[in-house]
Amino acid sequence: MSAVRGGFSSRLGFILAAAGSAVGLGNIWGFPTQTASNGGAAFVLVYLVLAFCLAYPAFMAELLIGRYGQANAVTSMEKMSRNLWQKRFAFIVGFGGIICAALILSFYGILAGWMMSYAIEPVTSLLGYSEASSWLTSQSITRNLIFTALFMMLTISIIRRGVEDGIEKWSKRLMPMLIGLLILLIIYVFTLEGSREGFVAYLNPDISRIFEPDLLISALGQAFFSLSLGTSVMVIYGSYISKKENLVTLGAQVTLIDVSIAFLAGLLIIPSMYVAQSQGVAIFSDEGALISGPNLVFDVLPSLFDGMGAIGLFVGFGFFVLMSIAALTSSISMLEGPVSFVVERHNIERKRATTFIGFGIFVTSALIVLNFDALFGLVISISTVYGQPLIAMLCCVFVGWIWQRSGILAEIKLGNDTVEHSLFWKIWPWYTKFICPSAIAIVFYHSL
Ligand code: TRP
Repeated sequence: MSAVRGGFSSRLGFILAAAGSAVGLGNIWGFPTQTASNGGAAFVLVYLVLAFCLAYPAFMAELLIGRYGQANAVTSMEKMSRNLWQKRFAFIVGFGGIICAALILSFYGILAGWMMSYAIEPVTSLLGYSEASSWLTSQSITRNLIFTALFMMLTISIIRRGVEDGIEKWSKRLMPMLIGLLILLIIYVFTLEGSREGFVAYLNPDISRIFEPDLLISALGQAFFSLSLGTSVMVIYGSYISKKENLVTLGAQVTLIDVSIAFLAGLLIIPSMYVAQSQGVAIFSDEGALISGPNLVFDVLPSLFDGMGAIGLFVGFGFFVLMSIAALTSSISMLEGPVSFVVERHNIERKRATTFIGFGIFVTSALIVLNFDALFGLVISISTVYGQPLIAMLCCVFVGWIWQRSGILAEIKLGNDTVEHSLFWKIWPWYTKFICPSAIAIVFYHSL
């Protein structure tokens, strides 16, 4: 039997857990590199607008579904459905999100494993184990399998403990560490030669690019990925929030933290690249664009750390620990989506369900590692390019077209009795019904 449902014990607990899910490799790696390849501050500006105008309303829809349903994504949406067709639709959307979360975790675990192995490398270097160091930083099937397994074990061990003791407690420990490390690294990089140039490149907008379709599409995709939308995760986190809380402000706070950390990460990565350049590292590709993707994190930045001498070991260690923490607070939320579904729908005990599903996802990761060229990019596109936007759009359709307006108002009023007269309530229902689904559909269409 499933025990009494867990929940967040405090407002701060929810904020840090949801921000933990949102802030991940997408913020610290994806956002800065997208910024670099899309006209610097022009991208930042568009991203800010889209995050608040499109991603935040969709995020609110997911949180509300969960808090209303007080259950996993499928059950919550089924509770709103009034006939068999709607129930089927609810199942498809909810279950689709759960599968999407599991798929994302299967590739995210591999990336996170790389971050962990790069975090250990400075330690082996310091101890003089040069063979171990080169093993840790070169691609191999064994290394990838071992570190993905280690990372999955960490994720499983947190989720086995449940919401309050696992997710909430660890988010409260890890998120402040992440923010502290990020700020320390930024301050340090700013003392180095070349960082000013990077700062200017980051913050100087090329306004002419603001309306470029590619830039808009990348910015919206990034905003959806970053808020973990369309993966059932925010629905389940919403279901753990007390009915006394004001969801409108909680959602806005989480969005603000997510966006701010992405912005701060840009302040770290772009100036670091220019520091690397002043040390002779190539930071532009042959086509003249700033290097992004894996080369940035695993070549450019490590060459920068190497060039710093002994202190570079500590900076490199700090940087990859930061990446690993960001990945961990996101991966626990990805695992919670499928686990909550199995626990609640099939009455399986949480610890068993977690181990079982976590292992299943690890097997998927192992298949990806063994067929890397064929599967890695494919799983990423299925889950993030197609799955996430499509399911996020369907969640908006669900709230906008299937859930009755009076029902939405009743739910949103809990913890926020004056909401009926607020600007939010004047705009948001209409927005979720028409604007969000159409905007997502347009972006989706363009990305095909
Ligand atoms: N938001 C995470 C990041 O920025 C990644 C992510 C995408 C995610 N989808 C998710 C996290 C689903 C948890 C659940 O890196």
